Parts: sequence; C-alpha cells; structure tokens
Amino acid sequence: MKAVIPAAGLGTRFLPATKAQPKEMLPVYNKPTIQYVVEEAVNSGIDDILIITGKGKRTIEDHFDKSFELEYNLKQKGKLDYLKQVQDITNMADIYYVRQKKQKGLGDAVRCAKKHIGDEAFAVLLGDTFTYSDVPCTKQLMDVHEKYGGSVIAIEELPEYKIERYGIVDGTHIEDNVYGVNNLVEKPKLADAPSNLGITGRYVLTPDIFDKLDSTDAGVGGEIQLTDAINAQDEVYACTFEGKIYDIGNTLEWLKSSIDMALTHDDVKEEILLYLKEKINEN
Ligand code: G1P
Repeated sequence: MKAVIPAAGLGTRFLPATKAQPKEMLPVYNKPTIQYVVEEAVNSGIDDILIITGKGKRTIEDHFDKSFELEYNLKQKGKLDYLKQVQDITNMADIYYVRQKKQKGLGDAVRCAKKHIGDEAFAVLLGDTFTYSDVPCTKQLMDVHEKYGGSVIAIEELPEYKIERYGIVDGTHIEDNVYGVNNLVEKPKLADAPSNLGITGRYVLTPDIFDKLDSTDAGVGGEIQLTDAINAQDEVYACTFEGKIYDIGNTLEWLKSSIDMALTHDDVKEEILLYLKEKINEN
C-alpha cells in the first residue's frame, strides 16, 4: 500500500511561527512533525510515500533529502550517532512530491495523488497530525480494511468544544472498535453533530475516492472537503484509534505533544518532570 501525506495547508492557526516555515516542520521535541508522520507510515509497512506540498514547503523536501555537506562534516568530526540519524531519515522510504497549485481544500490536495496512486487502496496521513501508539494508527486502519474492505477512517471521542473543528461520524457499532459509517458531516455546529466521534486525520481509502472527489462541490469554508467525498463512497468504516493523537496546528496541543515526546526520552525525562513540578509549585 502507498501513503499520501497532505502537507499543503497554510498553518494560519500557528502564526507567526509558520510565517516563513511550514507547520509540518515545527519540531516536536527533537524531530519535525512530518518525520513522525513518515515514521508512522513506514512502521505500518509502507515504503512509498507521496507528500502533497505547496508554496513555501521546500524545507520538507530538504529534510528528507540527502545532505552531502552535513554528512561529510559529521563524519569528519566523528559524530557518528548524528550521522546515522541523518542518514536514516533519507533512507526511510521512497518519498515523492507533488504540488497543490491552489489552496482548494484537503479534498483537492488528495486529488493531486490520483496519478501516483492508480487503482489501489491507499493510506492518507495528515501532515500536521501525529500519533503515538503501540500499533501505528495507519496499521490499525489497514487491518480493518483487510478484514472488511471499503474505506476506513480513524476516529476519536471528542470533547464538545472540539466538535465544530472536525469531521463528525454517524456510525453503527459493528464490533470492538469498528463502526459502519452511515453519514459524515464536516465541521457541524454542535447542535447538528450526529455524535462526538471525530475524524482524526488518518484514512485508508479505496481508489473510487478520486471519482467522488471529481464530483464533489466546494463545501464548508468554500473548500473541496475530503469528508464529503468519503461520504459519497458506498462502503466506509470507522475505527476508534487506540493511542494518542496530536494536532500540532494548535499551539497548546503542539506544546503538550512536545512535552509528551520529550518524556519518552529517558535522558531528559527526570529533568522535565522536576521542572514541571517546580512550575506547579510556583503557580
Ligand atoms: C481536516 C478534516 C476533518 C478532520 C480534521 C482532523 O480538517 O477535514 O474532517 O476532522 O482534519 O484534524 P482541517 O483540520 O484540515 O480543517
């Protein structure tokens, strides 16, 4: 299976940090967000990744490209740990790029993948959202797709204040963490939301999505919504994701994600916890 990572959004929620750099390159502890996303795809068994970029996103390509000068310098200085880290980034997967020419929404961004994907099911991982779990989120969706067929979307239970920012699912429980999808609504008003189950930015889509996207009119925000095109598909499942999900387009969530990821590093864990305790006492 191939993966598509849409990373063409403007990042307005994170200005001024995203004025001259893509939000997908914002570091979460010691890695840019999009590296976590690519690693999720790779850890799900995917080695062919198409990143949908746009204007101002060149540093994403540079990050995954080979850097001869840097590698030479690190080798000269004997910094072999860093050298390995840098080389691993380049060797992780075959990464391809296509540019979305105009900001016409997530649905339009995914449509840019049509030629690269062809006639197979594929994974979509939003480039500004990363997940943390034992079994990678995308792998969980691939397993549901293998069992049931159809498109599969990852969902999570949302608190009320978040509902108007997400695609919301009207589903029928099938088994364990799997729902059959009856209807999807993109960013509904709280009063109109069919449930509190929100689409989290991870999808496995069957290739008929491209025809559906072609016939999808602009929806919420005047943009071509991926949610609307999935809603037009015949067979769609939703899967409650087991793990943590971070939308780094939101400053507070980005900060929390950085702390959480730092706490997974034993060399700094104690110091961070001490610092946080200090802050609690001070406040
Ligand atoms: C997109 C999707 C939405 C989904 C959300 C998850 O919205 O359109 O359905 O719930 O990602 O982050 P965006 O955040 O790009 O506005």
